[in-house]
Amino acid sequence: MGREIRRVGVVGLGTMGAGIAQVCVQAGFEPVGVEVSGELCERARGTIDHYLSRGVEKGRLGVDEREAALARLTTSTRRADLGGCDLIIEAIVEELEAKQELFQELDGITDAGAVLATNTSALAVTEIASAVERPERVVGLHFFNPAPVLPLVEVVRTDLTSDEAYERAFGFAEALGKEPIRCNDTPGFVVNRILIPLLNDCVRVLDEAGVTPSDLDRAMRFGVNWPIGPCALLDLIGLDVHVHASHALREKLGEPRMAPPPRLVSMVERGELGRKSGQGFFAYD
Ligand SMILES: NC(=O)c1ccc[n+]([C@@H]2O[C@H](COP(=O)([O-])OP(=O)(O)OC[C@H]3O[C@@H](n4cnc5c(N)ncnc54)[C@H](O)[C@@H]3O)[C@@H](O)[C@H]2O)c1
Repeated sequence: MGREIRRVGVVGLGTMGAGIAQVCVQAGFEPVGVEVSGELCERARGTIDHYLSRGVEKGRLGVDEREAALARLTTSTRRADLGGCDLIIEAIVEELEAKQELFQELDGITDAGAVLATNTSALAVTEIASAVERPERVVGLHFFNPAPVLPLVEVVRTDLTSDEAYERAFGFAEALGKEPIRCNDTPGFVVNRILIPLLNDCVRVLDEAGVTPSDLDRAMRFGVNWPIGPCALLDLIGLDVHVHASHALREKLGEPRMAPPPRLVSMVERGELGRKSGQGFFAYD
């Protein structure tokens, strides 16, 4: 087995990257977070501070623990600062070219034993790995939103991923206190491959069965024991995020069920994105 993961880098500190960096500091790691501007670095630190402070308010965390956790985070706008990392998690925009360009540079900055991980939801890890000279050290570490709350991490291997890189990434997810699962690099991996067409079917049923969003949610909660109804879940995920992922899966798998229903596309066009916009299937304050 190769060396232990000690130094961790996170590139892109948006919704997912900031959440992943928070998980790292809470697990005792000292991550280096890289963003494109100092302002975005500070915004991410503010977000992490906010969620850690909520943990303090709810009695899950002591004030000194919050301070110690925040102090473990370093941020930078220079990729060169990732040089000493044993593992780097990429969480930048969902665009193949941007990710390939980044991985190519990371390949040169880091030493050969470092593991390079992507948090992509819908791109092929294999395609991202094709940009580097040593694709055997590229894996997918697919966290779920919000990363500090949801325990699952899909640890994705390509045909070229080495056992050593894979096991180190898997062990790292365990060291974070997460619930990792092993899977191959297939479109949507495990959860999105199942959840996206399922939620699309739920939305189609709204019109087909003439049922209200509220009754559809009650149907699945009280008839199947789902902890949350599909419409409330879509509002939580963000309708724009779901529609984007649906298009990507439709393109990759060619199945009509993967395509977003017109009702969802119209809602996104009207700016009804769910919780984050205050309006989706339901209204939020
Ligand atoms: N949002 C989700 O629910 C979710 C869930 C799982 C996985 N993902 C995946 O995680 C990745 C990030 O998604 P997100 O929702 O956090 O996006 P986001 O837009 O919130 O954050 C992306 C961040 O990356 C930064 N960035 C862009 N290019 C960069 C670069 N070259 N170097 C450094 N930083 C850069 C941006 O400034 C931005 O802050 C995507 O690949 C997405 O598919 C998202």
